[in-house]
Amino acid sequence: MEIRVVTADVAAFRCDAVVVNLLEGVKEPGGATRGLDAALDGAIRKLIRAGEITGKWGSQTLLHTLGQLPAERVLVMGLGKPDEFTLDRVRAVSADALKALRKAGARQVATIVHGAGAGGFNPAQAAQALVEGALLGLYRFGRYKPENDDAKEITALNLLERDRAKQRAMTEAVRRGRILAEATNAARDLVNEPGNTLTPTELAHRGRTMARRAGVGCRVLGPRELARMGARALLGVARGSHEPPRMIILEYRGGRPGSPHLGLVGKGITFDSGGISLKPAENMEAMKGDMAGGAAVLAATCAVARLGLPITVTAVIPTTENLPSGTALKPGDILRAMSGKTIEVINTDAEGRLVLADALTTARRRGASHLVDVATLTGACVVALGTVNSGAFSNHQGLLDVVLAAGKSAGEKIWPLPMDPEYDDLIKSDVAEIKNSGGRKGGAITGAKFLQHFVEDTPWVHLDIAGTSDVDKEKGYQPKGATGAMVRTLVQVAAELLAE
Ligand code: BES
Ligand code: MN
Ligand code: ZN
Repeated sequence: MEIRVVTADVAAFRCDAVVVNLLEGVKEPGGATRGLDAALDGAIRKLIRAGEITGKWGSQTLLHTLGQLPAERVLVMGLGKPDEFTLDRVRAVSADALKALRKAGARQVATIVHGAGAGGFNPAQAAQALVEGALLGLYRFGRYKPENDDAKEITALNLLERDRAKQRAMTEAVRRGRILAEATNAARDLVNEPGNTLTPTELAHRGRTMARRAGVGCRVLGPRELARMGARALLGVARGSHEPPRMIILEYRGGRPGSPHLGLVGKGITFDSGGISLKPAENMEAMKGDMAGGAAVLAATCAVARLGLPITVTAVIPTTENLPSGTALKPGDILRAMSGKTIEVINTDAEGRLVLADALTTARRRGASHLVDVATLTGACVVALGTVNSGAFSNHQGLLDVVLAAGKSAGEKIWPLPMDPEYDDLIKSDVAEIKNSGGRKGGAITGAKFLQHFVEDTPWVHLDIAGTSDVDKEKGYQPKGATGAMVRTLVQVAAELLAE
């Protein structure tokens, strides 16, 4: 889809459909909506008076112009109550409008920038959010199910802006929005891909291709190099599978001397059966998405490079399957991680923290000054926060604040959970330095506590996305399936670390 900023009057622009908006409670539309209303002989105001157009959040009204305007259709989107209007609603309303118009068969679409007028946001911010919402909302994973519908595609989105002075900032904002949304969609593609095609080897191939296209350095380590490095925790998890494990390392050196070096670590389990501690069959298919953290980290690093942010980023994605077999890791086994720490394996289904342990050590050894890891780590986090918030855990208030602020501006909800030292007792082992499961009590926290053993004193935030990496119902700019959670937040973290 082509996206342009165009100097044009809404009432004079020729296209298949033009999108305008209305805040709830507004009886006399202003701005572009008023201009259109005049061209339509007051039709919009009449429909408002008749109660047909309300401006309520989620409402939409499609009008056919039947020759009264160069645009064939006008779609009026409700923006809801003024005091409830946010930048994230700009994303959602943009997604909803374009999905409706795609379904209606529109190809050439024009829109005013929601939020830039009555919403009160600056035009660049609003344009970026609009573009994000558009590309995120129109995303489909059609690789294995070509719907008849797929012939319907919006080919051009024109952002109409009469003020030439605003155009430059808006054009730059469109580019940012596109980079962020495309990165999110790239992560979604990886997460939606099934385990039989997206093996660790294939994830590494895809990572390498993404890195090359973004101008990011990439190294992929296989079993022999991993053995030489002493990545015994990752290799331990991989033992049950015939697919060889990989450690994918991306390096973007945009930083100046003295600027922060951001280490991003993402869990890359391409399928999690639980191993010998086998999971129940119900919903096990969802575990093809157990590499969502790795996908987010890959995509975000490439987006940081595309944006040319002056920061150095090292991304580390440990990737393997977790399967049961005659060679698999067993409960009771003891592993010595790359850092030298010994781990008693209580439950082979707590495999994410094992592979992350060696990845965190790797990121530290490669010079990361700040660490953020992203992982579909625990069912307990889903119990605690549902599918609304990702969980955040940290050893450093300053970095945690950066991540929480980044989540806010990206429209991704994140909620911090406690890390009191008392929780450490739950993962003490009788036979090793720590054990990989603390049982059911505070399960999301003990998962984080385990990881903390491998970050030592480096400022670090762990994001548990077990509840947010996919959705079972389409909503706004989130189609059913993978969400690409944390891609935009991580890019924003990189930007905000620079501003620190
Ligand atoms: N990948 C799972 C966590 C998960 C659960 C992600 C539900 C998405 C949805 C993880 O590897 C796991 O199995 N964790 C165990 C840990 C336990 C054995 C300590 C869990 O949450 O039950
Ligand atoms: Mn597991
Ligand atoms: Zn897992």
